[in-house]
Amino acid sequence: MNVPVLASIVQASSFPAIDPIPLPAPVWLFKVFHDLTLTLHFAALHLLIGGLLLATVWNFLGQMRSEPDRLLVSASGVVATRLTIVMTYVINLGIPPLLFVQVLYGRAVYTGTVLIGPIWLSVVLAVIVAYFLLYRVSKLAVERKPWWIWGLAALAVIEYVGHVYATAMTLMLRPEVWPAMYDANPTGAHLPPFDPTKWPRFAMIMVGSVGFGAIGSALYSAKRNLPEDVKTFLRVQGGRVGLAALVVLAGVGLWAFNTQPDFVREGLLASVYYKVLLCAWVAFVVLAAVAAVGIQACPGSLTLAKGLFASLAATLAVASYVLIREGVRDLTLAAKGFDVWLSPVNTNWTVVVLFVVSLVLGLIGVGWLIAVLRGAKPTEERYV
Ligand code: HEM
Repeated sequence: MNVPVLASIVQASSFPAIDPIPLPAPVWLFKVFHDLTLTLHFAALHLLIGGLLLATVWNFLGQMRSEPDRLLVSASGVVATRLTIVMTYVINLGIPPLLFVQVLYGRAVYTGTVLIGPIWLSVVLAVIVAYFLLYRVSKLAVERKPWWIWGLAALAVIEYVGHVYATAMTLMLRPEVWPAMYDANPTGAHLPPFDPTKWPRFAMIMVGSVGFGAIGSALYSAKRNLPEDVKTFLRVQGGRVGLAALVVLAGVGLWAFNTQPDFVREGLLASVYYKVLLCAWVAFVVLAAVAAVGIQACPGSLTLAKGLFASLAATLAVASYVLIREGVRDLTLAAKGFDVWLSPVNTNWTVVVLFVVSLVLGLIGVGWLIAVLRGAKPTEERYV
């Protein structure tokens, strides 16, 4: 179906009326904050999912021997006991983009999430359960007891949350299916019809998590008080798994691009901005893979230069993905009659300044918390 016809059908039927209160700040400013905070949310998510997967596999392999393998068990415990902290970042860094996405795309995202209401709300419970399971993992790891089964359970719940997010963020782009979904089940206790873009979208985050999360575990080998054999293990295994997953991620990226509708792909390729971003994503993934090779081949401990290079390449890969993903959303919604850049704006600079000041104060607070955490007595001492 061509784009103007699609737009007229969808516009006539599905999008709720524009909110009578205009945006209190320019669209670009909301987008800057959204993209920045979503990059941080995804980075934390990668550390959580990648770290949990690796640590669970290592714990399983370590505990399956007739005598538990000290190195595997220690390495799994070192990573697993950090994950409750990482989870706090996943959650807290998820809230700002949720607010910004609602402000910018409320007409689409509210409608989509209301249509799967019970499933969407179940995320709150699932996150609490995931948190509980991570604490259980951490406690058992400290006691040197096998915990991989709890790790698997945590992973399953976390995957569920990720799947709900991918479903909701896909559904907000499909106003053409909203009326039939409501007619079929107004209580919202059902998933939307199959969408070829959803699974690659989900896989981008999950495979990315294995790649970037494994590199994160490898970088954790720089922690001073870890035993040398655990440091080497984290570095070599993290680097290897990271490299393998990034090769797969390149393929998933191609899959994600190819499953987009023609008008989205053409729109991305017609824009210099998005072409640069697509090339940047490929380049940063390749650089992160090069960093993974360098890390696992590093004789002795990890150098600061290699660590910084890997972190920067991984973060920029995530940031370029966030911007491309944003392009897919804008092109899709614009073709269906909702151009976010045309949203009514009435900038209230007092509110903007207050917001920026409180954000800076908040970031200083987070910096202070990190400093306190760094100075705290490390739990890893119990593994050595
Ligand atoms: C274990 C917990 C979590 C997991 C596994 C998770 C996973 C994900 C995944 C896979 C996506 C990408 C979806 C897509 O590409 O379509 C995503 C996006 C998002 N997540 Fe999380 N998430 C978690 C917690 C949270 C929390 C607690 C919040 C907020 C309170 C949050 C806010 C968001 C937002 C706002 C987006 C998308 C924003 C956008 O599209 O603009 N997440 N999350």
